[in-house]
Amino acid sequence: MSPKSKVRSPKLPFVFVNMAMTADGKIATANRAVTSFGSARDCEHLLELRATADAVMAGARTVDSAAINLGPGPAKFRRLRLKKGLMEYNLRVIVSGSGTLDPDAQVFKHRFSPILILTTRRAPKAKLRQLQAIADEVKICGRHEINFRAAFCWLREKWGVKRLLCEGGGELNDALFRAGLVDELHLTFCSQIIGGRNAPTIADGRGLRRLAEALPLQIRSFKRIRNEVFAVFGRPTRR
Ligand SMILES: NC(=O)c1ccc[n+]([C@@H]2O[C@H](COP(=O)([O-])OP(=O)(O)OC[C@H]3O[C@@H](n4cnc5c(N)ncnc54)[C@H](OP(=O)(O)O)[C@@H]3O)[C@@H](O)[C@H]2O)c1
Repeated sequence: MSPKSKVRSPKLPFVFVNMAMTADGKIATANRAVTSFGSARDCEHLLELRATADAVMAGARTVDSAAINLGPGPAKFRRLRLKKGLMEYNLRVIVSGSGTLDPDAQVFKHRFSPILILTTRRAPKAKLRQLQAIADEVKICGRHEINFRAAFCWLREKWGVKRLLCEGGGELNDALFRAGLVDELHLTFCSQIIGGRNAPTIADGRGLRRLAEALPLQIRSFKRIRNEVFAVFGRPTRR
């Protein structure tokens, strides 16, 4: 959403991020033991968003810290996908720049759709071989850092990804925000406080240094459902 992102390659997918956070802005507890705190409605919301995406993406710590499969969920969501002309099962993309992703993570036990891993040359050869054995494709997208713009063009060109849903965590989101690659942010505000200086937030990683560099957002919608608020932010419209 940065000014430089105004010049977007037509080959990039539409990228939207979906996160749930507590009233104090955390996405997990500091010890990372609590990974889910949204309501059943929030879970449904997540699956509804997945049902509009060609691919669902997450960072290595999100994937290996919980029993998640990044899939479309129950049959009613898969029917929705087919009705929209999407593949019944979304592609899955995992980001692991140095290849620390746990090969025993639950996601690899569910083989309903291709699993693609984005990594860098930092990943040791032995790790790469391990990941190549369990993923459908491991793509090296940079020497030290992932070039997400190039990676997303590749996802669009090779795998036909037109809508890419990113589900965190904070480190991955931060890189995408800084690269100006996020078109829309879906945020569920949950009515809890969990505190903790080291608890992750929706955008951790390196962050920005000056307010002038802050990414401007515009509220697209804001809806209260029972004890949660579902908000959508987009890029500011030009005047
Ligand atoms: N409440 C929610 O909606 C929600 C959603 C998602 C996650 N979470 C929680 O958030 C926590 C995980 O967040 P996190 O920020 O610690 O981790 P994360 O972003 O999920 O994963 C971090 C790892 O992903 C890779 N990665 C991320 N960004 C990268 C980049 N720009 N370049 C290269 N590699 C990159 C790196 O793997 P390598 O180490 O291999 O380099 C890094 O160590 C978990 O506790 C999870 O439960 C909450």
